Amino acid sequence: MPTRRAFIGQTAAFLGLAATGRQVSAASPAPLTAREAVVQLAPDSYPATSIWGYEGRAPGPAIRVLQGERVRRRVVNELPEPTSVHWHGIRVDNAMDGVSGLTQQAVPPGESFDYDFVAPDAGTYWYHAHNRSWVQVARGLHGPLIVEEAEPPEVDREETLVLDDWLLDPETALIDESFDHPMSMSHGGRIGNLITTNGRFDLSIPVARHMRLRLRLINASNARIFPLQITGLRGWTVALDGMPLAAPEPLEDVLVLAPAQRADLIVDVTAEAGETAHLVRIGNDDRPASQVAFPVSGSAAQTPRAAPAALPPNSVSGLGSLADARPLRLVMSGGAMGRMDSALLGGERLGFRDLAARGRFWAFNEMAEMTQTPLADLSIGEPVRLEIVNETVFPHAMHLHGMHFREIRDGRPVGPMRDTLLVAAQETREIGFVADNPGDWLFHCHMLSHAESGMMTWVRVT
Ligand code: C2O
Ligand code: CU
Repeated sequence: MPTRRAFIGQTAAFLGLAATGRQVSAASPAPLTAREAVVQLAPDSYPATSIWGYEGRAPGPAIRVLQGERVRRRVVNELPEPTSVHWHGIRVDNAMDGVSGLTQQAVPPGESFDYDFVAPDAGTYWYHAHNRSWVQVARGLHGPLIVEEAEPPEVDREETLVLDDWLLDPETALIDESFDHPMSMSHGGRIGNLITTNGRFDLSIPVARHMRLRLRLINASNARIFPLQITGLRGWTVALDGMPLAAPEPLEDVLVLAPAQRADLIVDVTAEAGETAHLVRIGNDDRPASQVAFPVSGSAAQTPRAAPAALPPNSVSGLGSLADARPLRLVMSGGAMGRMDSALLGGERLGFRDLAARGRFWAFNEMAEMTQTPLADLSIGEPVRLEIVNETVFPHAMHLHGMHFREIRDGRPVGPMRDTLLVAAQETREIGFVADNPGDWLFHCHMLSHAESGMMTWVRVT
């Protein structure tokens, strides 16, 4: 893998070649331009909405590669402020992780940055802005990144479904600019008033009875947790956060998709022709609403199919020996109705009100900001167990960059590898991972205004 330095060297060499007029077009990565655009998000009776999107779309274009292939993209910044792109869930080379201020400098307006990395694991991933994310992702800067298996499961149709939640002014349909509002920072994060799938509030996908679909769900919203169900469909969860489950799990109950999490479902249409199947979202008031409608016409087959097989596993390292694992602890505190009296900011201990006045509402181990020193200095290959203690009265979706983890319960790893874990209010959970990817890796809450107001730390692997 090239280091960032070597990579810049390559780019310079490439520019040198271009200056001499030699044919090098094949070497130039496809652009992914971040720019403003106007799209119709709200129902037609409302005005259009000005967003920021990759290629002017939200979600941005789906990037698809085969497992093991390279993703090469020139991110061109046509926004009025600096940006960078993070490839969420991909075990990338640290220099390609796209975290402004940690793994690269933010790309100024009018400039570009070439991303080039291998996608080692098949699955459903996504990309999003990682500079001022609580603003830039809310404005629409995100898109799907799909890494295909060499031998994908047999389905009649595949759909990537990007769930989003927009906070719009109800009169003008413009994006509500109150990104820093203390209320959203200190409570559940920026919760919107227009929920979309693939940029539509009323997405409808025609299907036939007994059709088998693969649904790749991505929660790209800033803070909304989606409790999901299916009707008129029989389904299985086959992967979470891109990583295959050892065995498909029948989807009979509610599937909870926290911000940044993904789920791959295989669903068979059981509704009759003339009926409509749904991906259903359970609202805050416990009432179900249609997230995606699947109107049924005709029949794709005479009989239903047998249950699907598991997806081929990715070759991620296991957890190593838990007995030898380095124990770490992360205590989350703060927020409205929390009991955080004070925390450290800029080397000073401040009371909750002073912190709030500086836009800080949360702390990790009593630090209300990203610290100069990492949460842990890990040596390459070291097994780690990390206890996450949520002392707040809000749930938090904790995301580790660069490495996947498994949950540990009663001293045993459970479930698939994941990159984002939803920790409920006042709950303690434990994760384990092997520090097998060198570099500086963020560990933060993916309720993006929480990350901005104190819930961000990092680990160093050398
Ligand atoms: Cu998907 Cu640090 O983020
Ligand atoms: Cu949070």
